[in-house]
Amino acid sequence: MFFDRSRFPDKFTFGAATAAYQIEGNAKGNAGQNHWDTFAATPGNVVGAQNGARACDHYTFWQQDLDLMQAAGFDAYRFSTSWPRVQPDGRGAVNPEGLDFYDRLVDGVLDRGMDPYVTLYHWDLPLPLADKGGWCNRDTCAHFADYAEIIMDRIGDRVASTATVNEPWCISYLSHFLGQHAPGLRDIRATARSMHHILLAHGMAMSRLRQTGHDGLGLVLNFEPAQPADESEASARAAATQHAIYNRWFIEAVTRGKYPEEALLGLEPHLPQHWQDDMEIISQPLDFVGVNYYTRSLYEPAAEPAWPGTRSKQGPLKKTQMGWEVYPQGLEDILLWLSAEYVGDLPLYVTENGIALADRLEDGKIHDTERCAYITEHLQATANALSLGANIKGFFYWSLLDNFEWAHGYDKRFGLVHVDFKTLRRVPKFSYYMLQKALTNG
Ligand code: FCB
Repeated sequence: MFFDRSRFPDKFTFGAATAAYQIEGNAKGNAGQNHWDTFAATPGNVVGAQNGARACDHYTFWQQDLDLMQAAGFDAYRFSTSWPRVQPDGRGAVNPEGLDFYDRLVDGVLDRGMDPYVTLYHWDLPLPLADKGGWCNRDTCAHFADYAEIIMDRIGDRVASTATVNEPWCISYLSHFLGQHAPGLRDIRATARSMHHILLAHGMAMSRLRQTGHDGLGLVLNFEPAQPADESEASARAAATQHAIYNRWFIEAVTRGKYPEEALLGLEPHLPQHWQDDMEIISQPLDFVGVNYYTRSLYEPAAEPAWPGTRSKQGPLKKTQMGWEVYPQGLEDILLWLSAEYVGDLPLYVTENGIALADRLEDGKIHDTERCAYITEHLQATANALSLGANIKGFFYWSLLDNFEWAHGYDKRFGLVHVDFKTLRRVPKFSYYMLQKALTNG
């Protein structure tokens, strides 16, 4: 049984999400390069050294893609603006073509009766800023606030919601400690600095946008329940440390102006001097918090002594094409935990949730029943959290289209719509039609 819209409040927003570098095709429209281009050009970082130069060529086919959104019956479209498309050097001169593109896109979303939900930074850091240390350099934060103002000057009058940054944990820890995303560092000092600076960038952009009269402002965080791999005390401690780093660091900073002790233990010596003075701008009032949720993780102690002294372990649950466990209960738990501990009545949105599958075209169709089940279960989890009092305003499926899945290249397919990366032909999957049926009562 697929989900039923009547379980959700009348004004509940259903949408789908994308991100600029994953779909647009960065080679078009005089966009500047970003650190994913060089990361991908370095052997071993991205499957097949693939990159976002062409992607789904949404830069050309955006109208067709918006038509697909509209025909599915979505209320809103979450997309990101590309910093290097708008400011190729990350500062100074603006690329007018880039701004025009987002201007047309926003009108296109509105013309089709949907609300535009914009994210200002979804990981495409302009190369000239990467050259100067990227998120390890405090100056990047001020440049980001300038860029935020430029974008919002142009489209802010028409967007329904604006998130400053997408997934600070990925931008900092995954990219500077685990080395899995650009810039591919594995350095604790770079990690601590980027974890702080990305929040400072958020805060500086928030103040700038408030000063220039914008509202509907927030940020998008990713969460993953960190659970002990076994019953031991040591695994419980490992899970608590990762919970502090992954789930608590960012939400605690923006809602309470502090960082969790368990994470400061390893990171504080590497934070920028006088970091405490930034906590006020980091923790200014938000209009919403976006929650990205995919899976859970199990932790146990690592063999080596260096902090955080944890390692993750494969769990026993059913896996997606990413190897991620399917764990819908975690979404309900995270939403309720956020409401109870941090946000109270502040609106929450599930800004991303989705599943990668090795979808195959058979007789021109993709019968992705597993995706339908995944969506149903996670909408069910969302509805449960709602009925238990969490103030959840919307749910966005990740993603509208199969796309450039970062270090995994084009191999991992999250889309409701299949994309043939040779011909760029779009074919809606069974899950798309199921959602369409539910959303349009068709
Ligand atoms: C999230 C990212 C998004 C996509 C999904 C699968 O972490 O925000 O761009 O890669 O994971």
